Amino acid sequence: MRPYFKGIFLAKAQNKGNMMTIKEIIAKPNVGAEYTIQGWVRTFRGNQFCAVSDGTTIKTMQVVVDRDTTDEAVLSRIKTGAAIVAKGILVESQGAGQAVELQANSVEIVGDSDASKYPLQPKKHSLEFLREIAHLRFRTNTFGAIFRVRHAISFAIHKFFNDRGFYYLHSPIITGSDAEGAGEMFQVTTLNLEDAPKTEDGEVDYKQDFFGKATNLTVSGQLEAELAALALSKVYTFGPTFRAENSNTSRHLAEFWMIEPEVAFADIHDNMDLAEDMLKYVIQYCLENCADDLEFLANRLENEEKSKPQAQRAPALIEKLQFCIDNDFERVSYSEAIKILMNSKPNKKKKFQFVIEEWGADLQSEHERYLVEKHFKKPVILIDYPKDIKSFYMRMNDDGKTVAAMDILFPGIGEIVGGSQREERLDVLEQRMDEMNVPKEEMQWFLDTRRYGTCPHAGYGLGFERLVLFITGMANIRDVIPFPRTPGNASI
Ligand code: 4AD
Ligand code: MG
Repeated sequence: MRPYFKGIFLAKAQNKGNMMTIKEIIAKPNVGAEYTIQGWVRTFRGNQFCAVSDGTTIKTMQVVVDRDTTDEAVLSRIKTGAAIVAKGILVESQGAGQAVELQANSVEIVGDSDASKYPLQPKKHSLEFLREIAHLRFRTNTFGAIFRVRHAISFAIHKFFNDRGFYYLHSPIITGSDAEGAGEMFQVTTLNLEDAPKTEDGEVDYKQDFFGKATNLTVSGQLEAELAALALSKVYTFGPTFRAENSNTSRHLAEFWMIEPEVAFADIHDNMDLAEDMLKYVIQYCLENCADDLEFLANRLENEEKSKPQAQRAPALIEKLQFCIDNDFERVSYSEAIKILMNSKPNKKKKFQFVIEEWGADLQSEHERYLVEKHFKKPVILIDYPKDIKSFYMRMNDDGKTVAAMDILFPGIGEIVGGSQREERLDVLEQRMDEMNVPKEEMQWFLDTRRYGTCPHAGYGLGFERLVLFITGMANIRDVIPFPRTPGNASI
């Protein structure tokens, strides 16, 4: 591969030998050859052994510095956090922990780091502390692994859909419709909040706003995806979505990424098959392509769980992922699930925070997790929810009580996917919009799909960070997105 990204060091590298990433060297180590690496110092022991990370892999390269021939001025600047370029011969390592090491014949300090002030010391830091220094946490093993895996998941999702003939649709981030009803929205305006123009009735006059109407950040790209699917057959969106819910949980973000496929001529069963295949494909891809990072994260999780009582410990990461690929997801109707929950111990003993009294109750995360973790002990797809607890666009079933909705529930996560077959019948859809007070006048563009060449179609939304949580085995959604936005926090 040509070294496209060697940047300012390219010219230097040409007379410095074989400039390579640590990932490339470890993949194909040529013992006896000369290499040049560039990265950041993790530790420097005995004025001799320098662990260098360049972030291309979880592994560091041990650079052995010659104490006798290296300038004292250089030695004193090899500090945790410093950026260096090291050139030397690759040799088999005498020490434990690495197969090869770089016997350096030159070390150049590119960027100094004052180790006495550097917030990342070579020791274990808590995830809470690292959240406070989110700008530096990429430099830790844990976050390096998480963000490499996050990349792989994203790539695998695009590959999955591309290989199956889906087109990637960029749905808008600023929208003028609030019809989805998926959650509270963030308003987008250029009006002066202290002196907003008013109409004669004393209301804010959005006609004078930037777009000539009130606008907000999107909560979902689904409705736009439906428009495209009814022309391109198979599309998906993959973009940021925004919800101003005041949910301070380990599963909610105010800004998160969502993948929303939408397929024409598809029903709820096709939709479930697609979602299950996609999840298994992506997990398999990570097992095959992120083995080192997953092994590191698995060990991290195991250590973390040791302090908990056996019964409360999370399952081993790799086994959990493999289990998910090897087993069919359980497909259960909402009505069956309600029966199971009503007969469950925590419901009878009123241990649930929200005790289920009757059919029609909305499921909370405690109920979803009971079904997945205690009852079925595997991923579950719940279908056919009561129409009153789901969105207006979901297709009405023949019973007149339920809609063709599907939620996929994952162990340790709860809901990871929400979707449905869509109501393609104009008259039924209009009736549902009236019943649910969805403004039809503003949604003529949406209703046109049902007027001209409507057809059965279905889609779903996958919460990207929830999948990253599941695959990395992390516990808090704030730790799987580079810069989390939650109520009261948008610091970087
Ligand atoms: O279930 P939701 O609200 O569904 C929709 O938005 C539909 N329009 C999707 C569709 O049919 N095309 O959200 C979909 C998924 C959830 O299952 C969850 O995984 C994730 O998005 N999600 C969140 N993830 C992080 N933080 C939040 N606040 C989330 N809200 C939803
Ligand atoms: Mg949902």
